[in-house]
Amino acid sequence: MPALQNFINGLPKAELHLHLEGSLEPELMFEIAKRNGIKIPFNSPEEVRAAYKFNNLQEFLDIYYQGACVLIHEQDFYDLTFDYLKKMKADNCKHVEVFFDPQTHTDRGIAFETVLNGISRALDDGKKQFGISSFLIMCFLRHLSEEEAFKTLHMAIPYKSKIIGVGLDSSEVGHPPSKFKNVFKAAKELGLKVVAHAGEEGPPEYIYEALDLLEIDRIDHGNRCLEDTALVERIVNDGLTLTVCPLSNLSLCVVKDLKQHPLRTMLAKGLRATINSDDPAYFGGYLNKNYNETQKALNLTREEIITLAKNSFAGSFLSDAEKRKQISAIEVYARG
Ligand code: HPA
Ligand code: ZN
Repeated sequence: MPALQNFINGLPKAELHLHLEGSLEPELMFEIAKRNGIKIPFNSPEEVRAAYKFNNLQEFLDIYYQGACVLIHEQDFYDLTFDYLKKMKADNCKHVEVFFDPQTHTDRGIAFETVLNGISRALDDGKKQFGISSFLIMCFLRHLSEEEAFKTLHMAIPYKSKIIGVGLDSSEVGHPPSKFKNVFKAAKELGLKVVAHAGEEGPPEYIYEALDLLEIDRIDHGNRCLEDTALVERIVNDGLTLTVCPLSNLSLCVVKDLKQHPLRTMLAKGLRATINSDDPAYFGGYLNKNYNETQKALNLTREEIITLAKNSFAGSFLSDAEKRKQISAIEVYARG
């Protein structure tokens, strides 16, 4: 194994952009479908994987929502989450901040409590068994209305202690952040952190809206900020983190080739970029594969890799003391 790849694999790191439903591997999808008596329109996990060819975000989302329909019982949500944490243990990931999409499940008649309890129990076990700390972020589906987002926020109130913040995902173009201004304000008033997908396919104006109207604490993706110099300057000055997802960007044709990925440019401009996997079961790689493939494609240096790992903790919602501890551990590891 090349030395830099070895270095990446052992490097302590955090993941800040991961949709739990997007970590549903075809094998587990089949297993859960079978035990729940659900028919899926594929004959094998290989056939499922062969169907994962996307030209844009919407083509992916259509398949992703269909895959999530096998999840019914609390144990299904537990297994989904725990399998992801096993992968993160193998990648030497120390902390995760993961998304879930309650509306994908409550709209099918699954109780909010079922989803939340399954996920939370697995996150607790991940901490106990693997030492991986975690925060949970509840996303609103932006193709649905703000009124529906409010209903979801109200459902979450009894479980507020288990949720660190809210996010905004699903079909970006045509559903600008402004559509969710009031529900984000209400979430903030409840003391929740707020993040939003912005500038993945949507224009820089959507990033401005996420900053000005939603007052986000972190930008998910954010690639298209690079089209606007003043916006880049503002994000740098505000010290906001971008949760960049290279293999996702490649799969969804946000970039044509990983060699053209803007990650290195982002770092050079002083943006606090991080590497994340987004929906690894659909985009062909977990955290270390995202680091390794991007390193090879862009010829990232050891120093840039260290910066990315440090950014993943600096951009997290951990306490300042915990951030310092994790960043020191990276320094100790890098000294060898
Ligand atoms: N973008 C928007 N919505 C999503 C994504 C994404 O990359 N993954 C899961 N939901
Ligand atoms: Zn995402």
